[in-house]
Formats: sequence, structure tokens, C-alpha cells
Amino acid sequence: MSELYRFGVSLEKTLIEAFDRHIETQCYKSRSEAIRDLIREELIRKEWTEGGTVAGAIVMTYDHHKRELVNLLLDIQHDFQETIISTQHVHLDHHHCLEIIAVKGSSSSVEKLATTLKVQVGVKHLSLSISSAAEGTA
Ligand code: NI
Repeated sequence: MSELYRFGVSLEKTLIEAFDRHIETQCYKSRSEAIRDLIREELIRKEWTEGGTVAGAIVMTYDHHKRELVNLLLDIQHDFQETIISTQHVHLDHHHCLEIIAVKGSSSSVEKLATTLKVQVGVKHLSLSISSAAEGTA
């Protein structure tokens, strides 16, 4: 962990009261931790929009009985082997599989992988969760 740096912030009373009510519902133990998370969130969003390196997870469910879908999803993942760190496969029920794909790479390659998987017929749902891959925001 890097050295702590303290600074003062001036805010309208109504704004800080609304913020305090908000962070109380989120169970933050201090304003500092809530503000740290907001800053990290903003820096990660910046990395994403500017094409920086991001890390995250793709979570998708699909019907493995759909003809050729499993092979197609595997082929796509092999095309993105530099972006994929690991994959976890769970057999949800007789028809459905859940796959969690850990990714790290440029935001464009991560988004392309997610989009390419999502549009395949038989993929029921796909969500992409992005976190920071940069040392400065961890
Ligand atoms: Ni399965």
C-alpha cells in the first residue's frame, strides 16, 4: 500500500449530507473509503474509455445443446488467448452452462471478445465486469 496523503475538500452542506446518507446505505465505515472507491471507479472508467489496459470477468450462460455452439465458443476463446487469463465452466443444469472468463488486456480487445461471444445464437446472457489492471488505482 502506498503512503497516505491527506487533503481538505470544500463541499456544499446539502451535498455532503446526501453523500453521507448514501454511503451509510452502502455500509461504508468512513467517508475516506467511499471517496477512494469513487476515485478508483473514475480512473477505471477513464482507462476503459481511453483504450487502456483493464482486467475483469465475462460471465455468460448458454444452452450447450445448441448445435455447434460449444465448439464455436471455444474457437472464439482460442482467438483471444492473449486476453483470456482463465476460464471456469459450471454445468448449471441439463441444458445450461455457466462460464466465467477472467480477462486482462486492452479495453478494445476485452470488449470485442465479450461482444463476439454475446451475439452467438444460444448464448442466453452475458455480462462484462471491469476492474483495474493499473497499479495506480489498486
Ligand atoms: Ni456445461
